[in-house]
Amino acid sequence: MLTIRDMAPVTEPERQYYFMDLCAEHVKKLADQLGHTPTCCVTTFGCQMNARDSEKLAGILERVGYQLIEEEENADFVIYNTCTVRDNANQRVYGRLGALKNKKKKNPKMKIALCGCMMQEDAVIEKIKKSYRYVDLIFGTHNIFKFAELLTASFEEEGMIIDIWKDTDKIVEDLPVERKYSFKSGINIMFGCNNFCSYCIVPYVRGRERSRASQDIVREIKQLVEDGVVEVMLLGQNVNSYGKNLEEQITFAGLLEKIEEIEGLERIRFMTPHPKDLSDELIQVMKKSKKICRHLHLPVQSGSTEILKKMNRHYTKESYLELAKKIRQEIPDIAITTDIIVGFPGESKADVDDTIEVIREVEFDSAFTFIYSKRTGTPAAAMEEQVSEEEVKEQFNRVLECVQEVAAKRMSMLTGEVQEVLFEEINDHDSTMLTGKLSNNATVHVKAEPCLLGRIVPVKLVECKGFYYIGELLQ
Ligand code: SAH
Ligand code: SF4
Ligand code: F3S
Repeated sequence: MLTIRDMAPVTEPERQYYFMDLCAEHVKKLADQLGHTPTCCVTTFGCQMNARDSEKLAGILERVGYQLIEEEENADFVIYNTCTVRDNANQRVYGRLGALKNKKKKNPKMKIALCGCMMQEDAVIEKIKKSYRYVDLIFGTHNIFKFAELLTASFEEEGMIIDIWKDTDKIVEDLPVERKYSFKSGINIMFGCNNFCSYCIVPYVRGRERSRASQDIVREIKQLVEDGVVEVMLLGQNVNSYGKNLEEQITFAGLLEKIEEIEGLERIRFMTPHPKDLSDELIQVMKKSKKICRHLHLPVQSGSTEILKKMNRHYTKESYLELAKKIRQEIPDIAITTDIIVGFPGESKADVDDTIEVIREVEFDSAFTFIYSKRTGTPAAAMEEQVSEEEVKEQFNRVLECVQEVAAKRMSMLTGEVQEVLFEEINDHDSTMLTGKLSNNATVHVKAEPCLLGRIVPVKLVECKGFYYIGELLQ
């Protein structure tokens, strides 16, 4: 006998649209039982890739009839899109998952799902199977496009559904997306990572690098622009290797040139470029561009050549400094930001001195500073000389202090200037103010009407308050 699943189309995305229709019937039945439209809450941990994935999950949930809500408290469906880059991200998921147990007792029709990077780890799945048996659905990073199919299955089958793929070469286009902001959007230009920095788990949980065809990217951005988007953020773990696995001959710089031509698009951002292969071509394309924002996030990780070698980063202190100098020379108004890890195995005080030297010399506009987290299965986890917690704390504070000092100095440089601001949010503390971003990614608070949200407007930067500006609209 043919089952529903056998009748489903085999090609994607048609197959998933078929399951969305089936799923919608289950959601309708659920609505009758509950007496209200079932609500759902998507919680994102981790990076912008995950944030974008969550918009895809939300797009499907909305399409099958759920009402998206912000508070997990009242949700009939809760999904955690997880991150495992550092252990504290994992601990937060376990903590919140524990708290959901009681909620599910009160609302037995409630469903709990987990997806994202953490789920690609065998030990995590074992732990959930053992200690969190009330989870309904688990899937990973490679089959997120199958969400509608898996959700349908969880309505039709008893017990915990687990579907994790080890890797994939598939890219499924054209599934629904529910964007968080109407005027800006992330766009995946590639998936996975081949760099295997020795501390990092991402290549193991996101699989091998694969780029999307440039015409698919351009088509998606054109649609977004028609839909009101003025700023895009191109996403990839190392955008500099964009195009390497495509038949089409194209570099990341070439892709940027194509995107620049899209009429109506006003701002282009991207993350993350790896310093080892940031080309002169890219610097030149940025220099002459009218749309690429004056911001480069260029993770240095460490300033010590020896540590960089152990990290498998393929550049030295000197080559990074030279690159930063070249960028500042070619594009003087650019902000350079970075990521720094403190406490990598074997890191001495002298290595941290090197990092501090790099911070002072490059004058980073801001930096995310992380304490090294040991990730099982990565080469660094097996390295001897793991640094003691106490020592790491001391070095971390030195780095943080230096970062803050340098950033404050850079930040105040624009005081008195007029700059274009994209207004993104109503200010958290004062609803008569809007919060926006400069091209160089600095934050500005301005007294302005909410009708300016999503618009790019010239603003006078009146005062620098350390990590942000207070601005005034021009009359
Ligand atoms: N692909 C990007 C970064 C992805 S992860 C890049 O190469 O720059 C984001 C940041 O998390 C990294 O830049 C790094 O600073 C930090 N990170 C990654 N693994 C880590 C670990 N095991 N411990 C602490 N920080 C880590
Ligand atoms: Fe991790 Fe390195 Fe890949 Fe970035 S480039 S995701 S740090 S392995
Ligand atoms: Fe975390 Fe996965 Fe991003 S591990 S940082 S969510 S790619």
